[in-house]
Amino acid sequence: MLSNEDIASLKIPRHVAIIVDGNGRWAKERGLTRMKGHDAGFKNLKKLTKHIINRGVEVVSFYVFSTENFKRSAEEVGHLMDIFVTLYKRNLKEFMDNNIKVIFSGRDEPLPKSVMKARDELARKTANNTGGIVNLCLNYGGRAEIVDAVKKIAADPNVDIENLTEADFGKYLYQDLPDVDLMIRTSGELRLSNFLLWQNSYAEFYFPQTKFPDFHEDDFDQALVEYTRRDRRFGAIKNA
Ligand code: IPE
Ligand code: IPE
Ligand code: MG
Repeated sequence: MLSNEDIASLKIPRHVAIIVDGNGRWAKERGLTRMKGHDAGFKNLKKLTKHIINRGVEVVSFYVFSTENFKRSAEEVGHLMDIFVTLYKRNLKEFMDNNIKVIFSGRDEPLPKSVMKARDELARKTANNTGGIVNLCLNYGGRAEIVDAVKKIAADPNVDIENLTEADFGKYLYQDLPDVDLMIRTSGELRLSNFLLWQNSYAEFYFPQTKFPDFHEDDFDQALVEYTRRDRRFGAIKNA
């Protein structure tokens, strides 16, 4: 647990991105089904979201379902889709009470209609909240996002391609967000798995061994302690 003094000395990232990983292994260790692991993971995601926003982070992006995750069994995909619908339906009040705006990144196809409907409703109802942003990356792929941005640019008659800047390009992504400052992947895997390829360009990476259902508020605070220690140079020589 951090003291108030420790908390005051933390650097707070504007944008935190989290690859929610290890739900399946967490369940297996306990002799439970993978579905139970996802239930525990999403319960934790809710609690963690509140804490992260309370720490002063402006945007937290969660990788909750990749375009590649459709390769999993119909049972597992179906269970995750059910979780997403329930997440929207049962948690609107909580997002409203905490003044949290929920946005989404990802493709529509081949999401079930029920998921798209609940997704769009949650985004619409929380659109005017100002206390912090949760970006749920659902049916998300980093390469797909870049390809989709290029298609939007090509279809935009007002675009001045010769003078297109990186900031202009960012406006065609699923969401126009600040760069990721801190990228966390739980469960000890050391890869990006196609997550926020554009936005993670200069992120600090943090890879705890903890599996996501066990990654709680204190574990997130430890990530902030580590982030505070990092020397972010962005290519420049400091203290020269
Ligand atoms: C991540 O946990 C959750 C989602 C993909 C939604 P996993 O399901 O990948 O868990 P492991 O990696 O098999 O333990
Ligand atoms: C990445 O985790 C996707 C999400 C957490 C939603 P995976 O568990 O699907 O990634 P790989 O297969 O280990 O790369
Ligand atoms: Mg995994």
